[in-house]
Amino acid sequence: MKIIVTGGAGFIGGNFVHYMMNKYKDYKIICLDALTYAGNMETLESVQDNPNFKFYKADIADRNAVYEIFEKEKPNIIVNFAAESHVDRSIDNPSIFLQTNVLGTGVLMDACRKYGIDRYHQVSTDEVYGDLPLDRPDLFFTETTPLHTSSPYSASKASADLLVQAYHRTFKLPVTISRCSNNYGPYHFPEKLIPLMIANALADKELPVYGKGENVRDWLYVEDHCSAIDLIIHKGRVGEVYNIGGHNEKTNLEVVKIILKELNKSESLIKYVTDRPGHDMRYAIDPTKIHSELGWLPATKFEDGIKKTIQWYLDNKSWWQNIINGEYKKYYDLHYKGR
Ligand code: NAD
Ligand code: TYD
Repeated sequence: MKIIVTGGAGFIGGNFVHYMMNKYKDYKIICLDALTYAGNMETLESVQDNPNFKFYKADIADRNAVYEIFEKEKPNIIVNFAAESHVDRSIDNPSIFLQTNVLGTGVLMDACRKYGIDRYHQVSTDEVYGDLPLDRPDLFFTETTPLHTSSPYSASKASADLLVQAYHRTFKLPVTISRCSNNYGPYHFPEKLIPLMIANALADKELPVYGKGENVRDWLYVEDHCSAIDLIIHKGRVGEVYNIGGHNEKTNLEVVKIILKELNKSESLIKYVTDRPGHDMRYAIDPTKIHSELGWLPATKFEDGIKKTIQWYLDNKSWWQNIINGEYKKYYDLHYKGR
């Protein structure tokens, strides 16, 4: 079995590479990543010499480069994590989100058609459903909730989902799509909420909370996302969408306070800052379909996952400090170029 993992030097893709290489010792894992600001080869350091692992620095929107890799590797499965993923960046500069998330997905689809594959899996997000009101805790996103996007990021992800479904219907491409809630865990880039708050609290810096901190996210430990994708690519029904989430809803303020408590830091570090434009209020997943069809359940509760995550950031300071000081950008040239 040969799997191309795009975006494997990022947060979730990196965790997925580790998860799959640990679980399936005979699988070949090919990572294709452009190494944007969010890609970090240090995340893949422990597998870089494994003969079952290979890395290509390439842009998913670069048709020639992608075709060349497909031609050479003849993969069975593609799991597409590669994306511009930060909502705040999509508000500052939407166009790169269209380029990578929409056009890049289109190039991968074309490569799958041209070379033939057993499965293309699109890693999508619950943000394609828009948001839910805070005063309706009875509402959850199901796979049939209409797409209703808020940010350029979520609009680009929804567009990609539609393209993937169109290639299934029109060209019979064997696809699946998963829409997951917010992830947290090791290797999370320290500009996203949880790692940013951990890093700032450790440095006794202010913790910037948007608005009143009352927005709700449904947090999933990253390994649980990996186990769900593993099930979908092996047992999921072609053409289907699966929501992934585990009923771990928390307001941003609750999350920040838990982190401060775990680190024994004062809540006076919290600083309320200008809200994000168009800020989604609440995301909440109904995971009934993936549970009943594939037997998936999340293994890690937020209370345990956040402790593990904080411990990981304490034990791996050089990983995130190298991002903050920019050193991580040198890793590829130092250890990888010319391989
Ligand atoms: P990330 O930003 O940490 O990683 C993205 C990776 O993609 C990086 O390694 C980057 O170098 C690479 N990349 C970016 N543009 C590329 C391009 N044009 N060609 C090749 N590689 C490129 O993102 P993440 O948080 O790991 O998210 C991975 C996927 O999961 C995304 O598709 C995202 O939409 C989805 N998702 C994320 C979350 C979350 O909470 N982080 C939740 C649900 C879904
Ligand atoms: P983020 O990690 O950017 O994920 P997403 O926007 O995809 O949900 O943000 C999670 C929540 O935390 C979101 O409601 C915005 C909020 N947030 C802050 O309050 N302060 C911050 O500095 C950041 C990065 C996010």
